Amino acid sequence: MIDFRSDTVTKPTKSMREAMQLANVGDDVYGDDPTVNTLEKEAAEILGKEAALFVPSGTMGNQIAIMAHTSPGDEIILGAQSHIKNYEVGAASVLSGVGYHVVNDQNGVLSFDELKAGVRGENIHFPKTSLICSETAHSTGVVGALSTLQTIQKFAKAQHIHHHLDGARIFNAAIHLDTPVSEIAKTADSVMFCLSKGLCSPVGSMLVGRKEFINRARKYRKMLGGGMRQAGVLAACGLESLRVMRHRLNEDHQNADYLAAQLTAIDGLVVDMQKRDINMVYVKFPYDRDALTHYMKKHGIILGGYKGDYMRLMTHHDITRNDIDEFITKLRHFDAIK
Ligand SMILES: Cc1ncc(COP(=O)(O)O)c(C=O)c1O
Repeated sequence: MIDFRSDTVTKPTKSMREAMQLANVGDDVYGDDPTVNTLEKEAAEILGKEAALFVPSGTMGNQIAIMAHTSPGDEIILGAQSHIKNYEVGAASVLSGVGYHVVNDQNGVLSFDELKAGVRGENIHFPKTSLICSETAHSTGVVGALSTLQTIQKFAKAQHIHHHLDGARIFNAAIHLDTPVSEIAKTADSVMFCLSKGLCSPVGSMLVGRKEFINRARKYRKMLGGGMRQAGVLAACGLESLRVMRHRLNEDHQNADYLAAQLTAIDGLVVDMQKRDINMVYVKFPYDRDALTHYMKKHGIILGGYKGDYMRLMTHHDITRNDIDEFITKLRHFDAIK
């Protein structure tokens, strides 16, 4: 199957499977797993932070960060289209007991004016604003300017508010901005990034930040049941993600450019070029949705879901140029017979 739904569908590579087999392991809850320890050390170094924590998922990484940065009753500021707001089952209100102050994030970039206005002053009636959550690359496919994150960080610091970055696809963002990932990470107190998306690991995300923050985060991970034992078999894949797979992500971006160009060449199809920063392509088809999806599935191609009128297609390690050509050929055929 050629699966365009997401980069989360990537399978672990052959060298990941070999690395799993050979991984040196120990009980990570005791801090005894050498492979996890190496992964945490390398992740912290690459992101330019003091320490890192290996967590089972991006959602857990974000939620642990919120728990560690806030107290129950606080308010956090985040974007209307953000993953934390929309796709984490409202966890921050349950696990951290915080309220959400939602601001506009046109194309995935937080409105700075709304953000500023959202910070609570000192008043007996108000909750405390303790955290701003940003996201880049955003799941709209957009990478905001680095200067926007720098402005937020400067503002947050002046207001004594923490800044957490959901950087699930931070390496894709770094490619788009043509900047070291540490420059992006520098703009936030904590960053979560995923190993299990375009980086092909089967499981796992990293949370990075200051040592003292990560020590607290480690305890919250245990509280949530995320303390893993011989997790080195998974961390071995994570190391492959960091040492090998992150260096090929640009190929996915180039394939997305190619896919977008091929789609645009078909009459009546519209690609949203404002959302064309990473390995995502948002396309509007002039066809019946179910008929198209059903036809493609019958021909071995799995399509993504819709956001409004647009379907999101993603390129990744398991999609080649030939796969894209095959999809376009099938699409032209569907266009002719529909
Ligand atoms: C921007 C963003 N943040 C967080 C996550 C959560 O990651 P996970 O699925 O590993 O919980 C995702 C997953 O798609 C995401 O796209």
